[in-house]
Order: sequence, then structure tokens, then C-alpha cells
Amino acid sequence: MFVVGTRPNFMKTAPVIRELRRRPAEFEHLLVHTGQHYDEEMSQVFIDELAIGDPDYSLGVGSGSHAQQIARVIERLEPLIVDVDPDVVLVPGDVNSTLGAALASATVGTPIGHIEAGLRSFDRTLPEETNRIVVDALSRFLFIHSPEARSNLIAEGCNEGAIHYVGNTMIDTLIALKERIEAVDAPARHDLDRGTYLVVTLHRHWLFERPALLAEYVSRLARISDDLVVVFPMHPRTEAAIDGFGRRFDTKRLRLLAPLGYLEFLGIVSGAAGVLTDSGGIQEETTFLGIPCFTLRPNTERPITVEMGTNILLGLDPDRIIEVPSLIREQKRETKGAPPLWDGNASSRIVETLALELDPAKSPAISCK
Ligand code: UD1
Repeated sequence: MFVVGTRPNFMKTAPVIRELRRRPAEFEHLLVHTGQHYDEEMSQVFIDELAIGDPDYSLGVGSGSHAQQIARVIERLEPLIVDVDPDVVLVPGDVNSTLGAALASATVGTPIGHIEAGLRSFDRTLPEETNRIVVDALSRFLFIHSPEARSNLIAEGCNEGAIHYVGNTMIDTLIALKERIEAVDAPARHDLDRGTYLVVTLHRHWLFERPALLAEYVSRLARISDDLVVVFPMHPRTEAAIDGFGRRFDTKRLRLLAPLGYLEFLGIVSGAAGVLTDSGGIQEETTFLGIPCFTLRPNTERPITVEMGTNILLGLDPDRIIEVPSLIREQKRETKGAPPLWDGNASSRIVETLALELDPAKSPAISCK
């Protein structure tokens, strides 16, 4: 049983589902959509483009406080797990749906497989960090995509035997859809010259706790747009916050757009001179694509993108945005290629691990002390 509910987790799940479909004699699967994300452009567009198939069950949890979202997932998923009795519940990433699903599974004793386990920012003020820690602590299978995840998990008392270094399923999706992304030719569709524009995404929770910060960011983006066209597809919450003050900034050189689908967004990123973001997954996609990434956060749970990839942590100071055009021009550093095992085959390694190790006769084991 897969449990998904938000935009980035469709990309992390789709290739694993595809891999299971190749082995019908061994596996049956079903998909539960929590409904944490529900807008067409935050959910259905990804289900369609990634050919995940319609969810078998929809929990309709919708928006709310973190506690409300997590509680609704637990309450609505638990009877379903009891009824369906899956051999394993697979959850990707670090969002509230992931934690709710892990807690529901743990309460009824169903083994959990965590895709993207072991990432740590060491900043417990981020809701995603506490989600990761708890989900990992409850999981039977810890599927990791970079070496430091293993040491993070072992430091927290996880059993070495539960950790499987499989690679990055989000990159599996990127590799599988590369030709379709190119065929869309998103830069041309948006009348953008390749290599001349900056893509921006911002939606971390602190922006909404400190709305003045978002206004400062947008005013700095307006300043650098003299130098570099800025394309800013906005999360619905960012869009709502910007509506109060930002529409006057929406020009031909600073384009405030609605959220984009997967193929269009990755097409725009592939043609960009650089990306400015506070997202997690985009740090990985830019590293894989070799596109300079500037992360507006004080820390990252994905240090491999800084050490091996194209990611530079800017912190939260709005003035750092002013440096981005010159940082792009100066950036000559060689990337060392994609991190190990970001090769398009992470999902087949996950499925092979399950084929070898998922034994319904064995009592479920949680892997951390
Ligand atoms: C969630 C994840 C975050 C992830 C992001 C991806 C948590 C704690 N956070 O943040 O890690 O990077 O998804 O996008 O789970 N909204 C809509 N339409 C939707 C969904 C949300 O308008 O389809 C608006 C609502 O006002 C909602 C707000 O966005 O209250 C926040 O949504 P929520 O799912 O709570 O968190 P995200 O900010 O999307």
C-alpha cells in the first residue's frame, strides 16, 4: 500500500509503482491519496503526467494545522489498513501525510517502508525534520539515497540491516520522462531564451509566519530582474500571500505564474541559468541536471547537493538574492556528475529488496532502538 498526498511525493512514488507493475506475479499494490494537496495543479496533473493511476482510496484530509492533518490521516487510514491488511505500507518523503501514514501503520503493526529515509537538516524547528525522525524510527525498511543518511540513521539507533542504499526515485522519474520533458519545450512556450532566466520557487512555512520577509524577497527579485528574467511559479499559499502586495511586481521580466505541472516545470528548470528555491526536491533535480541552485534556507537536509552538486546555501537574508546574477556568471565549479546511484534504477532496487526481504510470515519489526 502506497500512501501519498502532496505534490513532491507523486514523483517519488510513480517509478516504484511502474516497477511493481512489471512484476504482476509477485506483487499487487494499491494507492491511497490522503488529499493533503487537492487543487488540480497540485495533485491531479501529476497523477496524469506520471501515469500513477487513479488512487484506490481517497482520504480527503485537506488543509488544516499540522496536527489536524496528521490526526485526520491516522484516523482515516487506520481502518483501511486493518481492512486491506497490506504486507507493507510504503511512504515517501517528509510531509504530514507521510507521518500520519507511518503512525497509522505502526499502531496496527504493519511494516513501513520509508522512501528517502535518513535525511536530516538538524533543525527541529522545521516540521519536515520531526516528520522524518519519527517516520524513520517507526520503519522496517529504510530506503536511502545518499551515504550520510546511513550515518544519520545509525546515530539514531536504527538497525544497519534495515538500511538499503537504493538511490533516488525522484531522479528515476526525471530520467524516465526526460524525452517527454524536452518534447514539451517549455522555455519556448513561455517565450524564454534558454540560459538567460532564473526560476524561483518559495513556499516554506516561515514565509507565512513572517509575511514581511516574502515582500522583501519579491522586491529583491524585482531588482535583479533588470539583469536576469525571473520566472516564479507559485504554490497556492505563496500566490495568496503575494496577492496582497505583489501584483504590481508582475512584469515581463518578473513573471508571477500559477503552479506548473511536472513536465512544464522540469522543462523550464532544464533551460534556466539558475534556480532560487527553498524546496528540498529541487535541490536534487538541479544537482542532477547541472543547473546552479541557490537555496534560500539556513540549512539543508540534502548536503550531498552542496558537496557534489550545484547547490549553494544562501541563508535567509533577502540581500543575498542581489548576488545571484553574479554568482551565476562566476560559477565555474565542475560538478562531479550525479551522486552515486542516482541512475534511474532506485525503484527497481526497492522492489528487488521487497521481493527478497518482505516476508508476511515474519512478525513486523521496527528497526530503531
Ligand atoms: C507541504 C509539505 C512541504 C512540501 C510541500 C510541497 C508538510 C509539513 N509540508 O507544504 O514539506 O514541501 O507540501 O508543496 O507536510 N493549499 C492549496 N491547495 C492545495 C494544497 C494546499 O491552496 O492543493 C494551500 C492551503 O492554503 C493550505 C496551504 O496551501 O493550507 C498549505 O498546504 P499544506 O499541505 O499544509 O502544506 P504545504 O505548504 O503545501
